[in-house]
Amino acid sequence: MTIVPTNGEKKDRKDSKDGSGQSKAQQPEKLEKPEKQPAAERDLKAKANRTQVLSAKETAADLKSDATLRPQTLEEYIGQSRLKTMLTMSIGAAKSRDEALDHVLFYGPPGLGKTTLARVIANEMGARIHMTSGPSLERPRDIIGLVHQLEAGDVLFIDEIHRLSRVAEELLYPAIEDFVIDLTSGKGHATRTMRLPLPKFTLIGATTKAGMISNALRDRFGFVLRLEFYSKEELSLIVARTAKLLNVPMTQEAVVAIAGRARGTPRIANRLVRLVRDYGHFQGAETVTEDIAVAALDSYQVDAFGLDATDRRMLEILIEHYQGGPVGIETIAATLGEDSDTLEDVYEPFLIQAGFIQRTPRGRCATPQAYTHLGRTPMNNHLGAGQLGIEFNKE
Ligand SMILES: Nc1ncnc2c1ncn2[C@@H]1O[C@H](COP(=O)(O)OP(=O)(O)O)[C@@H](O)[C@H]1O
Ligand SMILES: [Mg+2]
Repeated sequence: MTIVPTNGEKKDRKDSKDGSGQSKAQQPEKLEKPEKQPAAERDLKAKANRTQVLSAKETAADLKSDATLRPQTLEEYIGQSRLKTMLTMSIGAAKSRDEALDHVLFYGPPGLGKTTLARVIANEMGARIHMTSGPSLERPRDIIGLVHQLEAGDVLFIDEIHRLSRVAEELLYPAIEDFVIDLTSGKGHATRTMRLPLPKFTLIGATTKAGMISNALRDRFGFVLRLEFYSKEELSLIVARTAKLLNVPMTQEAVVAIAGRARGTPRIANRLVRLVRDYGHFQGAETVTEDIAVAALDSYQVDAFGLDATDRRMLEILIEHYQGGPVGIETIAATLGEDSDTLEDVYEPFLIQAGFIQRTPRGRCATPQAYTHLGRTPMNNHLGAGQLGIEFNKE
């Protein structure tokens, strides 16, 4: 697999939410080389804010270790077995016919391995991969410049494909469907369109917001595949693999403790391994034991379910301010002082999957499990509201 540099390298302006003009991914890594001093340890914890610890969003530190950690082949890729079986068959069939693989759309929460799979597919196909993202393809010339580089069999990966502009999306339709592109020149009466053929390539799209993709675009993918959260067993395999690749001696009990707190997400599992390793260094430990792993994660306020301070605050707000819901995500976000997109994309999917929050037509509800987790007794009236949103309306 060859990685062809594209305009995907351009920085995504919308990434920068702190107004400093510097995206989170650009911020320097602060955790990799801690000094052996208590003050430095405090500093380390203070700096390891929850965005770096449990957010599934990519950080600079993640990118740094990605090169070592990303699986290269389907065999190395752990979990997602249903999806892997299908891809193995389809890749085999495409290769035996000497054709490009049909276009693939991956969707699911951040950190589950969409980008990794795109690279794995290119690798398995023996194809070059061009990597870009929706926001980088704003103008027609961005798309034209990109498809111009394509050769037969290449993979074109568009991350955050739900953020493609309308113009870009429409220009892409014939490219995806018929492998042609329409070039327009001149203005007004003198406008001319020229249709140019393109080599057969594979488009791989990735998105965390499947609902924001137009039907027209979605229908043009041969495969629309959803990535699932990973089981504790799968995450244990990932944690053990990461620890080995990073040369961190670790007991199996520590592996399981980390896996249990990784929110079903490989990116977080990898990050927790790095945090635990750093903590182990401070303690002068040669091997990471369960005690060290648990103490490290506790000190970062990651609880036994993998919930962090923001998760717990979200549940508390639901329960204490809004009697367990139902309440709209915007209202929760405003009370929490968080961005509603971040809550919806990064925090909520796992809270729903783990059974702490339910989504109803009238808003979010805390489940009995959320009450118990926070050491409170579930309220009966709320329960009816949360689980039977429509019944609630009748009251
Ligand atoms: N199935 C997997 N097996 C092992 N490691 C994985 C797997 N999926 C993802 N990872 C690891 O998790 C990290 C995040 O994956 P990535 O593909 O960037 O997620 P996404 O694109 O869905 O946000 C990668 O660096 C990779 O090392
Ligand atoms: Mg990605």
